[in-house]
Amino acid sequence: MLLAIEEQSFATDRMTRRNFRYAILKAKGVVLVAERQAGDRSGDCPSDIGNRPVAYGVLGFHAGTPFARLTSFAVESDSRGRGIARRLLSALEDAAAAHGCAGIRLEVRADNAVAIALYTAAGYRRFAVYPAYYEDDMAALRLEKPLAALSPATS
Ligand SMILES: CC(C)(COP(=O)(O)OP(=O)(O)OC[C@H]1O[C@@H](n2cnc3c(N)ncnc32)[C@H](O)[C@@H]1OP(=O)(O)O)[C@@H](O)C(=O)NCCC(=O)NCCS
Repeated sequence: MLLAIEEQSFATDRMTRRNFRYAILKAKGVVLVAERQAGDRSGDCPSDIGNRPVAYGVLGFHAGTPFARLTSFAVESDSRGRGIARRLLSALEDAAAAHGCAGIRLEVRADNAVAIALYTAAGYRRFAVYPAYYEDDMAALRLEKPLAALSPATS
């Protein structure tokens, strides 16, 4: 299911099945999946097939940097424009903050106006550009957002 979302979301530089397996089973980080509930009449999900993944985000934690890296993020095409990405991004930020990260960094294609609008609205700012970063030589904008530290739990 995640591969299907990936394939309908990206023309180049896709995550493979192996990449997903590694991210879920071995990498230091989190993979969050948004599901549409069975019986949700707002979409076309038949009630007999259970919850259906409609979006995912892959976040990596790396030694030597206080920033988590959002390496892949997509919502299936039929479920876009309903605020799913905004909520999933917020949940990924909460996961990064809970891990003690100071912020999140990501790369986005310079021609991906929809994703840039999403990240800008969520408080991400450009701090660098990688020219010819993608397989088709499109540049990547490097964006980052600082995260507020979580206050320690009180007893
Ligand atoms: C980018 C993507 C994740 C957005 O998902 P989504 O669930 O449709 O986004 P949301 O409905 O949560 O929208 C959140 C914000 O994104 C922006 N946005 C979403 N769709 C937009 C559109 N068609 N045009 C302009 N801005 C848009 C808006 O700022 C929106 O906030 P608003 O509703 O208050 O205006 C989705 O289009 C997608 O998966 N695209 C293909 C994969 C991709 O580009 N991933 C990012 C890789 S870095």
